[in-house]
Amino acid sequence: MQIFFKPEIREFHLRNDEISYIIGVLDDGRLGQLHFGAALSPGPSYRHLIGARQRGFEKGGGDFALLEYPARGTGDFRVPALEVVHADGSRVIEPVYAGHRILAGKTALSGLPSTYVEKESEASTLEVDLVDGPSGLIVTLIYSIFRDVPAIARSVRFKNSGARPIRLDCVMSALLDLPDADWEMLSYSGAWARERSEFRRALAPGIQSVYSVRGASSHQANPFVALARPDAGEVSGEILGFSLVYSGNFLAEAEVGPYRTTRVRLGIEPTTFSWLIEPGESFQSPEAILAYSPSGLGALSDAYHRLYRERLARGYWRDRPRPVLINNWEGTYFDFDEARLFGIARAANELGVELFVLDDGWFGERDDETSSLGDWRVDKRKLPGGIEGIARKIEALGMKFGIWIEPEMVSPKSELFEAKPDWAVGIPGRRRTTARNQYVLDFSNPEVIEHLYSTMVALLRSAPISYVKWDMNRNVTEAFGATLPPERQGEFFHRYILGVYELYRRITSDFPEVLFESCAGGGGRFDPGMLAYAPQAWTSDDTDAAERLGIQWSSSLCYPLSSMGAHLSATPNHQTGRITPLSTRAAVAFFGVFGYELDAAALAPAAREEISRQIVFYKQYRDLIQRGRFLRIRSPFEGDGNHCAWMCASEDRKRAVVGVYRLLNRPNPAAERFPLRGLDPALVYRVSLWPELSGGDFVRIDNEGVRGGDELMTVGISIADDPWQAASRGDFWSQLFVVSAE
Ligand code: DGJ
Repeated sequence: MQIFFKPEIREFHLRNDEISYIIGVLDDGRLGQLHFGAALSPGPSYRHLIGARQRGFEKGGGDFALLEYPARGTGDFRVPALEVVHADGSRVIEPVYAGHRILAGKTALSGLPSTYVEKESEASTLEVDLVDGPSGLIVTLIYSIFRDVPAIARSVRFKNSGARPIRLDCVMSALLDLPDADWEMLSYSGAWARERSEFRRALAPGIQSVYSVRGASSHQANPFVALARPDAGEVSGEILGFSLVYSGNFLAEAEVGPYRTTRVRLGIEPTTFSWLIEPGESFQSPEAILAYSPSGLGALSDAYHRLYRERLARGYWRDRPRPVLINNWEGTYFDFDEARLFGIARAANELGVELFVLDDGWFGERDDETSSLGDWRVDKRKLPGGIEGIARKIEALGMKFGIWIEPEMVSPKSELFEAKPDWAVGIPGRRRTTARNQYVLDFSNPEVIEHLYSTMVALLRSAPISYVKWDMNRNVTEAFGATLPPERQGEFFHRYILGVYELYRRITSDFPEVLFESCAGGGGRFDPGMLAYAPQAWTSDDTDAAERLGIQWSSSLCYPLSSMGAHLSATPNHQTGRITPLSTRAAVAFFGVFGYELDAAALAPAAREEISRQIVFYKQYRDLIQRGRFLRIRSPFEGDGNHCAWMCASEDRKRAVVGVYRLLNRPNPAAERFPLRGLDPALVYRVSLWPELSGGDFVRIDNEGVRGGDELMTVGISIADDPWQAASRGDFWSQLFVVSAE
């Protein structure tokens, strides 16, 4: 990996073994985008790729030139990377090249989550300074190229070196101009309990975008998009990935221009953002991660998984096996006392569960959703011995204890709201909208953060707490920062999320060995920003196994399995009413950070027996699942959507666990084959089924035993029942295979 600079022509080439990113200073001082994609030889110049010649009405930098960080007002009429308002009200800005630095390693971003390196040799960084002469605004474009991942981290730092204030109205973290429009845009859409469904559409002239203005990355959207060549699939074709390390309002957009160029931009959502920089002040944008794969989505996911698992997530739990947990939410909701919780913990402990998590309802007088958020003192009616009492009892069983908290919220019916009504987000003189009977606390106010910091420290010191589930159950409305002056109200949303990061940073550094799981009514803030503080996140409130196939499949496009909380819950499922076999619920939840979400004390003996075997299995393979390669084999969105298959393989390609799923059963079904990946074609593997099936089962007869890696990766695993065996399986059938090199 290296960054080359050709001073005669002022061209930069960032290169590792897999990718090249090439930009050059144009004659007018702006930066041009020359290439992002496959690694190119470092020798030649690529200046000719800019193609910026005069056309008709347009000057050399018009709507056809490929630019690096364009602004509006001087001949480029496409969506901009940067918009400002000067003190005189004018909006034109022309930042031009003023100098650069090439640095070893990668620096952290002030106040924001970002990827990092452990050794300087893992990345190189280029900082290019552009200066707008009349205003004195210095725009520093920051690029880090990683040695081992086909990805570039981009962000932008602004400094006002002029004499008058400047308002930033739009600051993209990255903009990429591509020379053609033969792409399809892959993005996520969703809602509560059906987050991150993948969606693919051909690019068309004009703008296509996904965004959030909810104060969080949201259930509905996610700060990840990819551009795929129309023929690109899981294992072939060019793909570009764009992911924003940010948890607040974001925009990810592609504009196809009049010359069929494509402009992609990614950053803070501009209509809900502005930031005033006074002379001498600076502003740092969030980080965008741009990745490239010449061979399909699988390799793109490999890049994001590796980077996010190993160089975004951090701390004590990054590489450690995550505990199998039981959470009481779906088991009890608000209806519990110490005896009931202890009964669940004891039963779960006997089954092999390692961590008990006490969810919502332990504080204030919270018997339902209508009160007490903000009053983070234990409800002695339910827990007479306090948090310490129940935590110590659970620890005495040999289990760890974890707790739920929703620090960003306040109930209108709470002591906190009575004492500090102006801490709740709202505009004086206007009504506040409640959602889930709660208000959002004003995290742009440092006093609020200070209060929550001391509250959380006191809670975490009060008892042996090993895990925290940090929830956030509503979005921001009536956005207004009570302590911000009128000219800074546009800063509210970004300041809010900076406040969340600040609290997370302080708490996680004070309690480095506590495992944090982020949550937002399920997956409403499931993004790379959160992963920098909490290495795992509650993927969705939907625990239905059939639904989870789609949610976990899609989430894995960008996010590693080590980030996805996945729990087995009771049937009928609480979100869908669906009844699925216990074995399938496990076979789906195994592919994530595994746990249970039910009343373990109420299980029938046969279920207890099966669950204890599930836990033994997961513990045996969790290193592979949490830290191995995840490979998608058959999409639940493909064809009639009736099958799904995926697998985890060890980096050395010697071990794998494969899950195959069939949703609805059909009489007399056709045979299905699932070619595996991530193995070594030259090795010989033993394939075994888990759990073991009875002697005459065809799935067993066809697959079990010794098979060549070449056969497994071309012919694959086969599912070929006769009609009578198929009839015995019912709906929502699944099968797990364990593959190990002989
Ligand atoms: C939403 C979360 O996603 C659930 O798991 C649970 O913690 C509830 N909040 C509790 O209010």
